[in-house]
Amino acid sequence: MDANALRRAYTRFFVDRGHTPVPSSSLIPHDKTVLFTVAGMVQFKPFFLGVETPPYSRAVTVQKCMRAGGKHNDLDAIGTTTRHLTFFEMLGNFSFGDYFKADAIPFAWELVTEVFGFDPERLWITCHTTDDEAADIWRDAVGVPAERIQRMGADNWWQMAETGLCGPCSEIYFDRGPELGEGGGPVGGGEERYIEFWNLVFMQYDRQPDGTDVELPKKNIDTGAGLERIVALAENTTSVFETDVLRPIVAAGEQVTGRRYGDDEAADVSLRILADHARSMTFLVSDGVFPSNEDRGYVLRRIIRRAVRHAFQLGAEKLVTPALVEATVDTMGEAY
Ligand code: SER
Repeated sequence: MDANALRRAYTRFFVDRGHTPVPSSSLIPHDKTVLFTVAGMVQFKPFFLGVETPPYSRAVTVQKCMRAGGKHNDLDAIGTTTRHLTFFEMLGNFSFGDYFKADAIPFAWELVTEVFGFDPERLWITCHTTDDEAADIWRDAVGVPAERIQRMGADNWWQMAETGLCGPCSEIYFDRGPELGEGGGPVGGGEERYIEFWNLVFMQYDRQPDGTDVELPKKNIDTGAGLERIVALAENTTSVFETDVLRPIVAAGEQVTGRRYGDDEAADVSLRILADHARSMTFLVSDGVFPSNEDRGYVLRRIIRRAVRHAFQLGAEKLVTPALVEATVDTMGEAY
């Protein structure tokens, strides 16, 4: 399944279940508590808080996201793993006071096992330590064996920023097999082995500056699935950089530097940084961010500078960014 097929399959599944397809919002959020759009739910914050009435009670999106500043920041991990990205696409379904856990959980399971075709035996679930309700739905309504449902604390609590929307969450993991690490499931098992690819947030609270959680007017659903990770799992590769949305951009980095991806681990780290940063810089500029000394502009400047530095370290002698931007436009232009 390539990225286009996945975007379509995800949207279709939820449209068939009464969701309104809503376009991706900009990477520049209206909300002041986050530097970038970090998740699909950001554009819906006023609906969750109850300060605006949504024109639909269910929505589905494919959202451009950026995690390179503030509470959600993956910038320093880029390149060192084969699954972290600063710019990525998040598939999400949302309920604004409509359905809750009893529907959101079976929806996710049906889509993953019947549409994506993932082997149910390789799926693991985590729930928040306090959330018996979600764990019971996974076990009794969906039929996941109890030994593959684990509990986590902070890792199963999602919050948008230091204050504001938050709630317990439940994550779906794929077991890539014993050759990639220790067994035992996501809690304590190998991080390269158990890959988290979908987070279901039960958005129930508004966290105050003093740390108290105030109940929202209604109970909501906010889910986020990583498009690049799902394409990689569906295509049975171990890396998001091998997927159709990133491999051509890695190739542009190869062309600029004269190095081959896969030949040398240190160079591969740099080539992954080049591919990730190529997408980030292109989408940030396209959404109206310009390199500067502060805020978003400073993050963009760092990203461009870092990409150029890594290209030069690998031996590039000519301009670096044009080839990276062109490859990004060629690869992502049609979808965006
Ligand atoms: N907001 C949650 C996340 O970003 C689910 O979309 O993981």
